[in-house]
Amino acid sequence: MPKKQNSTTTRRRFLVGTAATTGLAVAGGVLPTRFAIGAMAPIKIGILLPYSGTYAALGNAITDALKLRIEQAGGKLGGRDVEYVAINSEMSVPKAPTNTEKLIKKDEVDFLVGPVHSGIAAVMAKIVGKRTAPIMIVPNAGSNAVTGPLCGKNIFRTSFSNWQPAYPGGELMAKEGHKTAVTISWKYGAGIQMMGAGKEAFEKNGGKVVQEILIPFPQVEFQAHLAEIAALKPDAVFAFYSGGGATKFLQDYAAAGLKDNIPLYGPGFLTEGVTKAAGAAAEGIKTTLHYADTLDTDANRNFRSAYQAVAGRGADVFAVQGYDTGSLLLQAAAAVGGDVSASADVIKAMEQATFPDSPRGDWHMSKAHNPIQDIYLRQVVNGEQKLLGVAAKQLEDPATGCKLV
Ligand code: PHB
Repeated sequence: MPKKQNSTTTRRRFLVGTAATTGLAVAGGVLPTRFAIGAMAPIKIGILLPYSGTYAALGNAITDALKLRIEQAGGKLGGRDVEYVAINSEMSVPKAPTNTEKLIKKDEVDFLVGPVHSGIAAVMAKIVGKRTAPIMIVPNAGSNAVTGPLCGKNIFRTSFSNWQPAYPGGELMAKEGHKTAVTISWKYGAGIQMMGAGKEAFEKNGGKVVQEILIPFPQVEFQAHLAEIAALKPDAVFAFYSGGGATKFLQDYAAAGLKDNIPLYGPGFLTEGVTKAAGAAAEGIKTTLHYADTLDTDANRNFRSAYQAVAGRGADVFAVQGYDTGSLLLQAAAAVGGDVSASADVIKAMEQATFPDSPRGDWHMSKAHNPIQDIYLRQVVNGEQKLLGVAAKQLEDPATGCKLV
């Protein structure tokens, strides 16, 4: 029975570490109480994120900021040292089951942090959701299913659902007076769900999507599709790309002469973390997302300067999600005095976690374990995601099909 085996071995590691370093009598049935936390075996955090390919920058930002947050709190979780075991997901859905099983069964991680990619998220959630441990924290992937039909007691998300930033993006396009639009994205969970949410909102507000273009992930041959858009002459284009693919799309869109004629919209991933690489091709684009660089809080300013100092690059939403994953882990581990094998208590602490110092502003977990958060309207100005306003206040994903709700 893998479930039992896993929690038993986790507890064993907890006890062995304690006994070995504090001399507590475990064999005689004297269990260490939670006061002995300073000397226990490290808490293991398994990480499955992309460190190569089009989403490499996202994986690096999440990892750097997660570690930063834990370092800022003294480098420990609930008084215990932390060990990271990271695997490059390579954004490969076929490799996701093996990678996930390795972290759970071989590395016996206490927490599983990942992924970036919606397709991998669904695979991981199916594996983790059948168990009581480890607890999975999704620091990016927006797969609606993960906090919908695949939701689970031990599955949490610190980022967004694909519906959340996309729906207000579709509303924005309609509010700005556009009547027709073409949607364009990669053909996989994230692209399909974000384009679906944007289309729904646009059409509910009087718009009409005249063409939906989906290209295989992670291809970046946009020329033929841009020619099709030029011929269709919609009022606006609604797109989801991210990472290296977003940079290429923005550059090709501008080079095709479309930028000044057909305004580009989308969930904010389109311009997030790529403004430096995309340069003028990103300037002026308005998007909706749960973060903006210029959010005027001490928490955001402090985070941005601390992240710049350790990572050597500017913070973005992916770093914020990694940082808040660290905050969630800190609160959960503190609540159980480091005994993270007490899953029910860890889960309760995660459900009740608060994020008053999140760089994105205050948010909390929904019943489906997904952030209830503000979605901002931003615009790229001089390479920065400038805050223009709040597009949707404390937006909650509908969590359709989640049995926890
Ligand atoms: C996803 O696959 O869920 C995904 C990937 C990159 C993003 C956002 C969502 O920027």
